[in-house]
Amino acid sequence: MKSALIARFSAEFGRPPACLTRAPGRIEFIGNHTDYNGGTVLGAAIDRSVWVALAPRNDAQWNFASGQKDGVVRLRGPEFVRQSGDASWVNYPLGVLRSLQAFGLNAPTGFDYLALSDLPLGAGLSSSAAIELASALAFTRAAGAEPDRERLVKAARDAENSFVGVPCGILDQGVSGFGRKDHLVFIDCRGPRFETVPLPGDAHFWIFNTHTKHALVDGLYAARHRECMEAARALDVALLVDAPAGALAASADRIPPVAAKRARHIIDEIARVGATVTALRAGDLAAVGRLLTASHRSSQTLFENSTVELDFLVDQLVDAPGVYGARLTGGGFGGAVMSLTSPKFGDTQARTVAAAYERRFGASPDILHLQTADGAEIL
Ligand code: GLA
Repeated sequence: MKSALIARFSAEFGRPPACLTRAPGRIEFIGNHTDYNGGTVLGAAIDRSVWVALAPRNDAQWNFASGQKDGVVRLRGPEFVRQSGDASWVNYPLGVLRSLQAFGLNAPTGFDYLALSDLPLGAGLSSSAAIELASALAFTRAAGAEPDRERLVKAARDAENSFVGVPCGILDQGVSGFGRKDHLVFIDCRGPRFETVPLPGDAHFWIFNTHTKHALVDGLYAARHRECMEAARALDVALLVDAPAGALAASADRIPPVAAKRARHIIDEIARVGATVTALRAGDLAAVGRLLTASHRSSQTLFENSTVELDFLVDQLVDAPGVYGARLTGGGFGGAVMSLTSPKFGDTQARTVAAAYERRFGASPDILHLQTADGAEIL
């Protein structure tokens, strides 16, 4: 990818790039919608990334090119004009640029910029966090700054919240920033505090991307965010992570039923993340798998962010040989299912699951057998 990046950049801008960066996508392992509730979450950086090549300019011209789109989006700095239609992908690096400023981090006044990716879009693998992190690293590096990783992660998340407009937590940017090969990233989102937990050797990840996406997915994500905050207010805590054990049952008459279901999911899910870390440390992948599937069932019935397609895949997977557990990964309302398997689950088993899905829904899911990878880096 490095030589493709240099060749494409040179063809587009007539000179070589000054710096190259890479940031990975992520699997949400467990901890569904816990991040913005102040809880804990586990994720894995994956071997699919966004790469950015950049060279500073002497003027205030901002030129953005992407491997996925023809042409160059040419903007005049320092104006942050939100882009739409074909150019809307530029809102990610643009938002990052604005957040870097807000965080007191330097970026070049003008630049030529190119992003390439081998990360499927809209699969719940967080291509947005990957482009944000790769951009943040490239902009700061090109300006001669070496900010610490936590500041970059926070600036990237700020871009998503304040410019792109998604009220997400820190999971995606945190995992893309702090990923480590053969490890999961554990985030205590309130600090935030980032750690890595070793992944037992024979654990494999398979992703089934349904390519389905609820038309209102952004609105539904924001609605879940609101419902969780409503539940926290009813329980008299700032964030659901602070709800004492038993508080939910004790407040049954004061809390609207929908908010109560959302809160039940979040409170139980935070407990499942803790239990998963314990099981991982004990090398007990069977127990980890049961927790993953329990997380999915809770999404299905309490948080209501699953879909019939995702439920079907989970049902198929948990009955397949070599599968420890399966769940939707990411925000939900479409996207992908991930499963944790032993080496007994291979291409044949994956194709059997995909064929059953195709018989039912008339379209085949994409199958990805992913490895863990290191987090964002300068190349
Ligand atoms: C999306 C968001 C994350 C997180 C997950 C759900 O991926 O970007 O911050 O909330 O959904 O866990």
